[in-house]
Amino acid sequence: MSAPQSAVPRHIAIIMDGNGRWAQNRGLSRIKGHEQGAEAVRESVEGCGDLKVEFLTLYAFSAENWQRPKNEVFALMTLLEQFLKEKTPELLEKNVRLQAIGRLTDLPESCQQQLHRSIEATSGNDGLTLILALSYGARLEIIDGIKSLIREIDAGHIDSAMLDPEMFSKHLYTRYYPDPDLLIRTSGEMRLSNFLLWQLSYTEMYVTPKLWPDFTKQDLFAAVDDYGQRQRRYGLVL
Ligand code: FPP
Repeated sequence: MSAPQSAVPRHIAIIMDGNGRWAQNRGLSRIKGHEQGAEAVRESVEGCGDLKVEFLTLYAFSAENWQRPKNEVFALMTLLEQFLKEKTPELLEKNVRLQAIGRLTDLPESCQQQLHRSIEATSGNDGLTLILALSYGARLEIIDGIKSLIREIDAGHIDSAMLDPEMFSKHLYTRYYPDPDLLIRTSGEMRLSNFLLWQLSYTEMYVTPKLWPDFTKQDLFAAVDDYGQRQRRYGLVL
């Protein structure tokens, strides 16, 4: 299948699920599944680049994921740091600008440093913006947003009577980006899992049974093709 010609989403968000099952199906450790999952990221980054999608947000580590077994958390943090270190030259070559959302200060110090180095190194790129959601939880994000708003109100910078959804959006981690147009979830699960709850209000959803390590550029094209057939109504009668 070639790249779809119909409406292309500006912003795609992906819940990358199924690394554990991919590994289990092969009698491998869950960590091998995550390693293969990290390799699969290239497919969607390239696919978005081909389609001229402007923003790609990947749910790489949730606030809840800290409760996984210690060795898995350690492996995921090591993998993230290694991914950032190894893939930054490729991001530069592909004109990808890296960004991150979440409670980034929860990450191990060396991981934070590498993340900031990669963000800084790619900051001049003007192709796809790749946003990694790390130690991210939507309910925490909303609480952080409320705290930030209260500070502004207390300082007299905002009149609480003027508060509306657009103003609140400016206090979320995602304030620099448009809301996702398309949400993809792999591995067949029909859940949002505390991902971008505010921002996904009018997002089109696409769930595929493919496990994340098997999700290819062609699968991304199929999702975008499906999106192109949708009629977005935003609660209106059209
Ligand atoms: C879900 O699979 C996936 C994760 C918890 C983390 C996603 C991480 C990666 C794709 C690799 C690292 C990413 C980057 C950007 C370096 P799961 O373990 O919940 O799978 P399961 O439901 O089959 O157990």
